[in-house]
Amino acid sequence: MTLRCRTAWPVGLGLALASQWLGGCRHDDDGGAAQGESTGSDDGADSTTGDPAAPSYWQDAAPILFEHCGQCHRDGGIAPFVIDDYAQAAAWAEASAMAVSERTMPPWLVTDDGSCGEFRDSRALSQADIDTLVAWAAAGAPEGTPRDDLQQTAPPSLAQAIDLDTPAFVPVAEGTPWAEADEYRCFVVDAGADVDRVITAYEVVPGNDALTHHVLLFDLDPTLEVGPGQTNADVIAALDAESPDRDGWPCFGASGDGTAPSGVPVAWAPGQGVMRFPDGVGYPLASGTMLVAQVHYNLAAADDEVEPFTTRVRLQTRDTVERPLVANLIDPFLGTLASPTPASLAPGEAAVQYSWQASVAELAGPVAGLDVYGVLPHMHARGVSQRFDVVHADGSRTCGLDVPRWDIAWQLFHFFQQPLRLQPDDVVEVTCTYDTRDASEPVMPGWGSSSEMCLLGVYAAPVLP
Ligand code: HEC
Repeated sequence: MTLRCRTAWPVGLGLALASQWLGGCRHDDDGGAAQGESTGSDDGADSTTGDPAAPSYWQDAAPILFEHCGQCHRDGGIAPFVIDDYAQAAAWAEASAMAVSERTMPPWLVTDDGSCGEFRDSRALSQADIDTLVAWAAAGAPEGTPRDDLQQTAPPSLAQAIDLDTPAFVPVAEGTPWAEADEYRCFVVDAGADVDRVITAYEVVPGNDALTHHVLLFDLDPTLEVGPGQTNADVIAALDAESPDRDGWPCFGASGDGTAPSGVPVAWAPGQGVMRFPDGVGYPLASGTMLVAQVHYNLAAADDEVEPFTTRVRLQTRDTVERPLVANLIDPFLGTLASPTPASLAPGEAAVQYSWQASVAELAGPVAGLDVYGVLPHMHARGVSQRFDVVHADGSRTCGLDVPRWDIAWQLFHFFQQPLRLQPDDVVEVTCTYDTRDASEPVMPGWGSSSEMCLLGVYAAPVLP
């Protein structure tokens, strides 16, 4: 077994932490059990190893690792090493201490320490758990007394659902700068049922855990005119026809270049489990709605021969709900494409900002308020950070969502614990920051991979007057 330290450590890392933990990588080639043992025999340098009060793997670290890491860091999972046995967990203890301290692991892009929003189904670790993993690594990752009562929690599954399947597909790395080892592919998974439905819950069965990085489901009106004499259905048929020997079509930004989705009812990334909309709330699909799944395959861990596999989106639906969600994919940056002088981002800069505002009236019309249930931040590969604030009439602000370190791999909905109530005179403000140092020309807005977006998906229900 060879473990490698694959991380490009994030810039801006606390220096104290860096000097304390960066040593983790030196164990790279020692194989699994190396670290705990070598540290243990290194008396003097680390007198804490034998400290009976120091946290141990089985008593302290493993319960946290099993609950919060094992769903990805396991055999066949999407993460590069297995964390649910002592030898491997110990070999990665220092790197893990660093990743959890920096809150890069578990992957959860938003600031989630109570300072900006509170989220349902949060993956964020508590500070106490972080402190335990850090203390365990600092003590030399001692094993403690083995136990066998720990189990990885199997994610719950929807009992009854409509199953929407992609064709059995073999992804191939695109080899572009954005998708070196990745493929983004779209498939029609439902051409349009002839009934109105409301999605109340969903889950995704990835088919191949190790290669499936995210799945988005877009709903489109196939008859919507998106260009001169061209409907969504026409554009999709043309995109699909470009690669007759392979199913689907390439689609980095959304449902494919030139298409206009109405919303994103489903956003899934590994470890998410079943997603249920709050009671009485759901996402309506009008009769005739076309559903397109975008699958982001990551082939970094792929064997030479990938067997074809199907990605399944499972929807639980009802005929009606009390509060249908309105989905707004808001991106005034993209919207400037329609103007004679579209906005663009200056090339060659480490931090270029684009900021937009939209009033509640612009978003929802004449309502008595808007309850925002969830938001989906979205940018492309040059995105660095995104922030969403509510600006009130008196100038005060409420922080809605803060993504300090954007990563396009983790497309996730963030649902609030309590819906965020916007007043009619409130304004939504979104600020996106990009790194354009690799670009020599201004970066244009667009759905494609060389362009950028500054999108906030908002799932809200109007408060009726
Ligand atoms: C939702 C899936 C998921 C969960 C949950 C998760 N990881 Fe990861 N982890 C990954 C993936 C994927 C990578 C590879 C990322 C990369 O290197 O691009 C990774 C990489 C890492 C690395 C390598 C260094 C780094 O920061 O990239 C460490 C260390 C790590 N994870 C520790 C943890 C620990 C500790 C936990 C639990 C507290 C955890 N992870 C939970 C998916 C996950």
